[in-house]
Amino acid sequence: MQREMIPHRGPEFKAFFGELLEKSRAVHRTEGDVLIWPGSGSAGWEIAIVNLFSPGDPVLATVAGSFGERFAHVATRFGLDVRVLEVPWGRPITADAVGEALERNPDVKAVLIAHNETSTGVTNPLPELARVVRQHGALVIVDAVSSAGGIPLEIDAWDLDFVFSGSQKAWMCPPGLVIATVSERAWAAHRTASFPRFFWDLETARQAARDGVTPTTSPLTMLYGYNAALDLILAEGLENVWARHRALGALTRSEIVRANLTLFADPCYASDTVTAFLPPAGVTASDFLSVLRREYGVEAQTGQGAYTETLVRLGHMGWAHEPDLVQALSAVASATSKVGRGMLPAIG
Ligand SMILES: Cc1ncc(COP(=O)(O)O)c(C=O)c1O
Repeated sequence: MQREMIPHRGPEFKAFFGELLEKSRAVHRTEGDVLIWPGSGSAGWEIAIVNLFSPGDPVLATVAGSFGERFAHVATRFGLDVRVLEVPWGRPITADAVGEALERNPDVKAVLIAHNETSTGVTNPLPELARVVRQHGALVIVDAVSSAGGIPLEIDAWDLDFVFSGSQKAWMCPPGLVIATVSERAWAAHRTASFPRFFWDLETARQAARDGVTPTTSPLTMLYGYNAALDLILAEGLENVWARHRALGALTRSEIVRANLTLFADPCYASDTVTAFLPPAGVTASDFLSVLRREYGVEAQTGQGAYTETLVRLGHMGWAHEPDLVQALSAVASATSKVGRGMLPAIG
């Protein structure tokens, strides 16, 4: 990322960007289009909505946590007719529930799904969900912000229509890029979608990509970073990267249980990129995080929404390896034991 700037309309950029898109298609397991904009993951919600729909279009939003909720909120803000399928936090969205919701709402044009619900540490069973949605002829729109690059995600094999992610999660870069894949069915929807759009217009981005450029000034430094990350992933092997995350997820969950803490997610759907657990009894998540930060130099996160103070979330995605995680987990165990023995009175 410290490389010097090059002209983003010149031949050197064109060659670089062409290769970058090729590698990006490989790690998304798609032959289709991968498009990239400066932005954060949240832009993906808006890109999907303004490019694939018209005001008033009916969609089914699946909500199992705060990111599913936000997708539904953004769709509502743009004036889509949003039908919500909600399950309790910590539980997955199941294919049966989606199938039933689609029976009740046969007119929906698309189903909105957060693949990995970062607020609860649940990975929804995306291949099964996609199969049910496809049987009903609706589009499958996927927020893969905390899954892409970390856990299995097969854009073409699972027949996913629009999938977006942000550079800062399992792509292990700083924040600053939003990356999206577009299926042929999504392109067909795009042609009739009537929302006004400029910066996020898919066709503009596709044309530019075919010309080896980005529509606006390229976020060159971020593209250098993403390119380096793709090289690392391809050198390790995408399936080895997935296996590493699977091992990190399993290690985290077993150490959390060994520390006498309670895992939050339904164990059959526990995420391998982020783990949510309850803080020690009598301690808020914020206080527990202060202890981890102050005493051990470990950063974790609180829960979100109604669970802000009753959940702690530990990320283990992207540039995450066993030695770092072992250190973080032993800090969690030590802090838990000290809190339990009243040895950290200055909490807060
Ligand atoms: C599943 C999911 N979707 C969307 C977002 C929003 O992404 P950003 O914060 O990059 O805008 C996040 C961020 O954590 C996320 O985890």
